[in-house]
Amino acid sequence: MSDENVKDIPEEATKTSSGEEAEPSQEEKKTSPEVEAKASSGEEAQESREEKDTSSGKEAKTPSEEETMASPEEKAESSQEEEKTPSEEEEGEPLILFENVGKIYKTGQIVYEALHDVNLKIMEGELVVILGPSGAGKSTLLNLLGGLDGATSGKIFFGGEEITAFDDARLGRFRSNDVGIIFQFYNLVPTLTAYENVDLMQDLGVEIMDPLEALRMVGLEDRKDNFPSQMSGGQQQRVSIARAIAKKPRLLLCDEPTGALDTNTGREVLKLLQDQSRVRGQTVVMVTHNSLFAEIADKVVMVKNGTVVEVKINKEPKDADEINW
Ligand SMILES: Nc1ncnc2c1ncn2[C@@H]1O[C@H](COP(=O)(O)OP(=O)(O)OP(=O)(O)O)[C@@H](O)[C@H]1O
Ligand SMILES: [Mg+2]
Repeated sequence: MSDENVKDIPEEATKTSSGEEAEPSQEEKKTSPEVEAKASSGEEAQESREEKDTSSGKEAKTPSEEETMASPEEKAESSQEEEKTPSEEEEGEPLILFENVGKIYKTGQIVYEALHDVNLKIMEGELVVILGPSGAGKSTLLNLLGGLDGATSGKIFFGGEEITAFDDARLGRFRSNDVGIIFQFYNLVPTLTAYENVDLMQDLGVEIMDPLEALRMVGLEDRKDNFPSQMSGGQQQRVSIARAIAKKPRLLLCDEPTGALDTNTGREVLKLLQDQSRVRGQTVVMVTHNSLFAEIADKVVMVKNGTVVEVKINKEPKDADEINW
């Protein structure tokens, strides 16, 4: 689908989504090695976030003072006014960096620019929520992030390595080892039990934890012998989360993970995902239509008309079980 990727993009200064030139490295302050070490160690991710807040020299502000969650329309408007760059309040090396990324789909004679001028930074351990209208390019962005599809222009870095320069074999290893993906409709194999669906990763040559341990983490140990058709939607989604986290990926990508679930079940799934970031220090990136989910995110990315129009940092994200929709 994406074999026409052009990767020989000339080196140029990083630009903001507004087109202004900006040098992210000059805007960012370095953290101490201790803070960086903690940020990359799972259990202390939350603590490191708190340290980072105080070490920035600014007083931590409440969300209402700094960035009350607004409707997508309000957010898009304010982004045009403020032209705030994603790197403004962040420190240290990002886990993920998008530099002027574009994606063009070609179907026969039809050329469609799904993404353009995407600049984005995601820090290790962050819970990121991507919001935007249908067709804005959210899933495309997520696919590029997970190496499922290639960019047409620009560069994407993961852990300092340029994934847009990877060959197929290296990209395959990146997808297998570093990325776990959770879809709206679970994508479980119907003829395999919960245990076997998780264990499947091992058959594909990926090193994983004991599938029972992964099922225990999502509270489904006692359902290990059930087939997908013998489980509720929420339980199936939890199996798919167990499958994704069993390989302990550094990056967990979720496309509308609660889209097919009722509020209570959705909240449980959301809590599990938030815990992956808070307790285990995994980086979680979630696409959703539900702007309420912005309240639980460390970072909210607004996508509109194929580009990132605004990035907000939430100093005091809510617990997943505090939100109602
Ligand atoms: N493989 C493809 N070939 C051609 N066009 C595509 C392809 N995938 C996506 N597009 C187009 O790119 C645009 C962005 O699609 P994308 O799926 O990223 O949107 P989205 O923000 O995830 O929307 P939704 O909220 O409805 O899921 C859409 O106009 C879509 O039709
Ligand atoms: Mg989508």
